[in-house]
Amino acid sequence: MKHLIAKWFRERFNVDEIQEPIKHQLEKPLPQNVGWFHTLGSMSLFLFVSQVLTGILLLVYYRPTVNEAFESVKFIMTKAYMGWLYRQIHAWGANLMIIIVFLHMLRTFFTGSYKKPRELTWAFGVMLFILTLVFGFTGYLLPWNQLAYWATTVGTEVAGSIPWLGVWIKTFLRGGETVAGETLSRFFVVHVIVLPWTMFAIILIHLILVRFQGIATLDPVGAEKELKQEDGTPFFPHHVLKEGVVFFILLGCLVTLSILAPFDLGEEADPLQTPYAIKPEWYFLPMYQVLKYFPKLVGIFIVSLAPLFLFLWPFLDKTSERHPLKRPVAVAFGVLVLLSLLFFGMLGYLSETKQVFFGKTYEFDIYGIPRLVTTDGNSHEGPHLPAVASGTLRE
Ligand code: HEM
Repeated sequence: MKHLIAKWFRERFNVDEIQEPIKHQLEKPLPQNVGWFHTLGSMSLFLFVSQVLTGILLLVYYRPTVNEAFESVKFIMTKAYMGWLYRQIHAWGANLMIIIVFLHMLRTFFTGSYKKPRELTWAFGVMLFILTLVFGFTGYLLPWNQLAYWATTVGTEVAGSIPWLGVWIKTFLRGGETVAGETLSRFFVVHVIVLPWTMFAIILIHLILVRFQGIATLDPVGAEKELKQEDGTPFFPHHVLKEGVVFFILLGCLVTLSILAPFDLGEEADPLQTPYAIKPEWYFLPMYQVLKYFPKLVGIFIVSLAPLFLFLWPFLDKTSERHPLKRPVAVAFGVLVLLSLLFFGMLGYLSETKQVFFGKTYEFDIYGIPRLVTTDGNSHEGPHLPAVASGTLRE
């Protein structure tokens, strides 16, 4: 059978001509330092494909209008065949993809892979990271529930505070004065057409660059030698097998999380009822929290500098060493940024909530500062919290 198919193709196409480059790509040796952490890139790719496939399934029943969106997602979750599963895999996939893409970025940062000649691979990677976040932001609104509606109202309000262009950006995103049907249509088109195709194109460029330049070794810039077949590990089957293993682990995680910790749909969006303490999704919490400490303009300036800084990082870090142990300053800087993200994210999560620690109840104010609550329900110290309408940034 195999021979018959091969013969059929041979009679029609010059198969031998393309066989050689494919063989070359498959057998291309990878440096010895390539290990499990180097599967994070293909894990990101797997999650992207999974999002596209489950997204297509969701599109069969989803309706992007104010009157139907919420009900259509409810229908998918309760009536559509296996709908609950592919909706949960899509929701969990979105969250895992942000984590995995971020970890992949950290891996390439700590191993100095972004250095010459791979600056562009990094820059396209930063675009992919930003696109992944925008995927999350636009997708969050689509079920048209209370949390999503108000988080989008706050999110677009923040964009509206950008000097000069802010009002235009806000109106452009919302399609009007408030978050409404127009906003839903816009977010829908961006989420299901613009972003997937843009991401597909950028992933393709990213992978072509990785293939052509090869995976970085830990040798300093300029000292990387042409890798000989006998000095490296073949891409196929060695590395591909590792990727197969992580693929099944990831698939197992997606299904397990979908069953054990499903995402709730909540209540339908009500523009007339503002819930207390609206917060964005967890991945925007560090940024959202930082914005609270500074006057509006300063905060937005600081937050908008972050992506620019990420893009330019390979051009700012001119040192030649790649090994993490030989780059104490860059590594310390990376760890500091990571800890700050965790710290502000945690503060953002705790802010405007009551939490019980060791039997005592604490009330966290908008800045995440805790106050002990006495049995009469009042805060133990400090002034009473103002009734904070969440999302209010300092002028
Ligand atoms: C959807 C998102 C992404 C996908 C699908 C993806 C895919 C990949 C794959 C398959 C590799 C080769 C294997 C590996 O090193 O893990 C790779 C390498 C690389 N990626 Fe990504 N990537 C993504 C996002 C990013 C991001 C956010 C960055 C950094 C900002 C980045 C920077 C790099 C760099 C510098 C390399 C070269 C690594 C080396 O030579 O050691 N990528 N990517």
